[in-house]
Amino acid sequence: MIKEPDTLMLIGFMGAGKTTVGREIARQHHSKFLDLDREIERAAGMSIAQIFKEHDEDYFRRIETQVLSQAQTFNGVVATGGGVVERAQNREILKNSPATLVYLHGNLESTISRLLAEGQRPLLQEKSTADFFQLWEARDPKYQEVANFTVETVGKTPQRIAAEIVALFSANEDELAFLALRSQIDAFDRQLFDIISKRMEVVLAVANYKKKVGMSVSQPTRMSNMRAALKVDYAQNPNISDEFIDELMTILLETAMKREDEEMQRG
Ligand code: S3P
Repeated sequence: MIKEPDTLMLIGFMGAGKTTVGREIARQHHSKFLDLDREIERAAGMSIAQIFKEHDEDYFRRIETQVLSQAQTFNGVVATGGGVVERAQNREILKNSPATLVYLHGNLESTISRLLAEGQRPLLQEKSTADFFQLWEARDPKYQEVANFTVETVGKTPQRIAAEIVALFSANEDELAFLALRSQIDAFDRQLFDIISKRMEVVLAVANYKKKVGMSVSQPTRMSNMRAALKVDYAQNPNISDEFIDELMTILLETAMKREDEEMQRG
């Protein structure tokens, strides 16, 4: 059961948003916030980049273990570093921890775009794309192993993720699995809307092309061909019926045509 914890610890890959979400939970929940990476820098007397440059990853990990042990009784929200689950010793500390551990789970695309926006991490700089992907895959089961709860972050704002986590404190045991599934559904919805928005951008590019060549907005043959092709491609999928394809395509096409018309009238 996730009760309102004395210590809430966020784990997850670099770029998962642990620090941002952690600060936001602390703000929404009026609690204190501790960033383990900053504690490591304080203990070492230098920045993380410097630790990796002047020493090595092993040296960094040893300080990380010390700082992690001390953080177990911190009264508030703790953001850990992405590699905290690397050492078996740390995983033991986490599994026996009185803290509640929440895994912020993203996907590779969301992780990379956050990292690009935020700037570099030492481990990112020295890794090839293949190594990075391998690290991402290898760590996922380690986070799962120690986490009390997994929150799906893809497409969600830090505020929404924080609110989902705060809501866990009032949930009972039975509700937790249900809330974890809902967390996934909410992320899918956001991904759907992101894709629909991207689709609309392409629709507008199509509208501009049609205008340039003097084509009419509505192309009935193309539309019925689109539907027919979708029905063939999804014929074996019991979740996507012909009726669903018709209903969704009607919504998408009507909305797109309205938007195209607006765009064309605007000049
Ligand atoms: C690391 C992640 C970093 C930091 C260090 C190592 C890792 O923390 O602890 O660069 O091994 O993934 P963030 O997860 O906050 O980026």
